[in-house]
Amino acid sequence: MANYSKNLEALKRAKQFIPAASQVYSKSYKYFCEGAAPVFADRGLGSHLWDIDGNEFIDTILGLGAVTVGYNDERVNNAIRLQLEKGMSFTLPSILEAELAETLAEIIPSAEMVKLVKNGSDATTAAVRLARAHTGREMILTCGYHGWHDWSIGLTEKNSGVPLAVQKLTQKFKYNDLAGLEKKLEENKNGVACVIMEPIQLEFPQSGYLEGVRALTHKHGALLIFDEVVTGFRFHIQGAQGYFNVTPDLSCFGKGMANGAAVSAVVGRRDVMRLIEEGVFISSTFGGEALSLAAALETIAILKKPESFEKIWEMENLLLIGLNETIASLDLGSVAYTCRLPAHTALLFKPVSETVSALDIQSYFQQEVLKEGILYMGVHNFCLAHSKEDMQKMIAAYSKTLKKVKEVLGSKNLENQMEGAKIRPVFTRNE
Ligand SMILES: Cc1ncc(COP(=O)(O)O)c(C=O)c1O
Repeated sequence: MANYSKNLEALKRAKQFIPAASQVYSKSYKYFCEGAAPVFADRGLGSHLWDIDGNEFIDTILGLGAVTVGYNDERVNNAIRLQLEKGMSFTLPSILEAELAETLAEIIPSAEMVKLVKNGSDATTAAVRLARAHTGREMILTCGYHGWHDWSIGLTEKNSGVPLAVQKLTQKFKYNDLAGLEKKLEENKNGVACVIMEPIQLEFPQSGYLEGVRALTHKHGALLIFDEVVTGFRFHIQGAQGYFNVTPDLSCFGKGMANGAAVSAVVGRRDVMRLIEEGVFISSTFGGEALSLAAALETIAILKKPESFEKIWEMENLLLIGLNETIASLDLGSVAYTCRLPAHTALLFKPVSETVSALDIQSYFQQEVLKEGILYMGVHNFCLAHSKEDMQKMIAAYSKTLKKVKEVLGSKNLENQMEGAKIRPVFTRNE
């Protein structure tokens, strides 16, 4: 087993001062097999990450999707360095704000105007507020995860602290189920401000689905918001809206836009975005922080090259084919399966009995695949620095580890084989 002694010592200290020892739940030790997994990153280069004990991993998570070009990319670093020489935050807006807004307007079909914020949650919250202001209505229909703010998280089991009145103003609808959405719109006739959704979930949209959502939403006088925090700059340069040719009224970008620097954007129709000049207040001190804008401009310039997304899709496809072949050759289809989210591939597990859950198997798999030098969490993100060699190593590692899964399930001793704690997610993301 790798040496995690520095990680575990640092975790002991961090637990005293940081809730969940991380600012981000899904990066916390609870998402890894505590005791048999790395906890703290030291550095990254390309597609690889080193923990503070010096263990090296091929990273398939990439800062939860934020890293799209690759860790520590010289081109993005240089753009940041150049800006650093000039300053980070100013009394006047940075000219980079205008450059980035113009760039986004050129690329993203729905982007007539742009407001830059910091996190995906800022962008989705801004979009929802704009929709409420534009329509004069309050109800929000959602599909997917949209961040930690009250209107969004109130619907989950982690809604402690969110006023009931706020919880009641958001309802969920099911992906790829137009009839279900129509019913919700009818039930809340003239009350729905917006339909906000991740344009792709664990499955592709059925033919006509996204067009259908847009038509129904507009028929009921609501705005359509695409939450492209995951799909944006990871799937296609124009986002899912460009790929599927369905333009929403507003859309939200974050994560992969700046190769890990903190910037996000709500973009959309000019008449709606102009409300920010009137009654809708969206403003934050670091909204125009210039290092992340420089990083975003360079990242987008790199991702814009036609070969960039080709490469990401090629890597994704190699892994998908390799995983499917491995699962078939091991006859493990009743235990493991892949999902093809565009430019992501998920390797997930099914419960095998009353006592062995999908998460039990995923925990054991993660523990063992870490020994092969792969940082795995279920869904794989890819960056331009991932190589065919990385994919070959991953497929070999997954094949070896899936064999172990088969043996352990056959001998019914998974519990005894756990060297660390099982994964303890906060909630099921795609419930
Ligand atoms: C689809 C989607 N929207 C919004 C968010 C919130 O983004 P952030 O965590 O940057 O606030 C996330 C984060 O995972 C996300 O996946």
